[in-house]
Amino acid sequence: MEVPGADALRQWKTDAWKAPSMVASYYNTVSDDHGKNRLKNHIECSLCERYSVGNDILDVGIGTGRASLPLARKGKKVTGTDSSESMLEVTRQLAGNVPVTLKVADVERQPFPDASFDTAMALNVVVHFRDWEKIMAEMLRVVRPGGRVLFDIYSLDHELTADLCTAGKTEYRENTVDFRNFLCRVKAEDIAKEATRQGATLHTLIPFNPFFGVSRWPFMVGGNHKWHRMLSWFHEDEALFECARFLEEDIIGKLSVSLAPKIMVVLEKRADPEANARWLRDYRKMESALSAGVSAETLAPFVGKAPDALRAAFGAHASQGRARAYMYRVWKLLHSVGFAMRPHRIFPTEVAEVFWEWHLQEEADERMIGFLREWRMLPAVRRTLTYRSVPLAEGLFHSQARNAFRLSRPLPGGSDH
Ligand SMILES: C[S@@+](CC[C@H](N)C(=O)[O-])C[C@H]1O[C@@H](n2cnc3c(N)ncnc32)[C@H](O)[C@@H]1O
Repeated sequence: MEVPGADALRQWKTDAWKAPSMVASYYNTVSDDHGKNRLKNHIECSLCERYSVGNDILDVGIGTGRASLPLARKGKKVTGTDSSESMLEVTRQLAGNVPVTLKVADVERQPFPDASFDTAMALNVVVHFRDWEKIMAEMLRVVRPGGRVLFDIYSLDHELTADLCTAGKTEYRENTVDFRNFLCRVKAEDIAKEATRQGATLHTLIPFNPFFGVSRWPFMVGGNHKWHRMLSWFHEDEALFECARFLEEDIIGKLSVSLAPKIMVVLEKRADPEANARWLRDYRKMESALSAGVSAETLAPFVGKAPDALRAAFGAHASQGRARAYMYRVWKLLHSVGFAMRPHRIFPTEVAEVFWEWHLQEEADERMIGFLREWRMLPAVRRTLTYRSVPLAEGLFHSQARNAFRLSRPLPGGSDH
């Protein structure tokens, strides 16, 4: 199959988004605030609000206005561009009496003079194209000196870290086969270098959506169905939602972009190559501090809380039913993929004890099930336990597993870790 060039990919994406059926299906997805969508919408839209500056906002690839209509409702002067007239029509209707200026335009050719806006943002747009640098340059062009450019992109650091954890691979091969599945993945280092090249300053990179979407963590440790079931409670369990929001915004959002599949890039239009070099140095220092071991003490300077306050915050979230299970799963995910994070170094003692006990219990269950599965497959067992071609070992396996789980107890030693 043909390898998609940047232009062909852009044309394909542009055409795909023009279809009214695509617009309707996209709108249905983003306006659904159930389950993980609730957290996704909250994180993405609040990042756009938190990091935009000034009054004149340009939303590139505005879609149905998820990121910028809330700003227009708060009195900001919002201009939205999109290549799809059908999208703009929906946005016009959603805006109602709120004044917004909407124009048809391509991401790489915004119909405005230089320095027209205080902030240019693009949510869930740059990720679709290969020429992220060109879009970034166009957004910087239309922003006033000192203004901001915000866009999200996929984290190549996350992909490489996950590959290294699973298969020891250190190289990434871009999907060059299918336009539909193309995701633009970039390294933090390349964003910092590009900022310098284009005369911009990297204000920050914020990792987000660490535990769903195309995140590699839940898939790597299995149990995906259970995990999605947990996420499905977000819209009805406030304590769970608040715990997930806390972990995303207050913890992961302040750490390394290798932890999450997506990054919000926040740039300022002013040249400061030294600031970009410093940002990269500090970033590498943080990465090496985290890879040496995660504790309340190592996290504290990055998340801006004293270690005891951080422990207490983890403890408060983990005091609620589903929130406690969510926090355990997140800890277990990161622990399983190789982050050295002993629970007693992060959580208050009573929470750490419970987590460690759950972990040991799960490990014991996994070992037992592995043993029973292997035993069932031994040729001698299969031969002996086959009656008129019926493999009796199958039924036996299930009843053995049931009995074994009934008898199993947590292993001792919880407080030792
Ligand atoms: C995934 S949607 C994101 C919409 C919105 N920003 C949001 O976050 O909900 C991608 C948007 O990019 C627009 N788009 C696709 N190709 C484009 C192009 N070449 N120039 C400008 N917009 C484009 C689509 O019409 C669509 O509205």
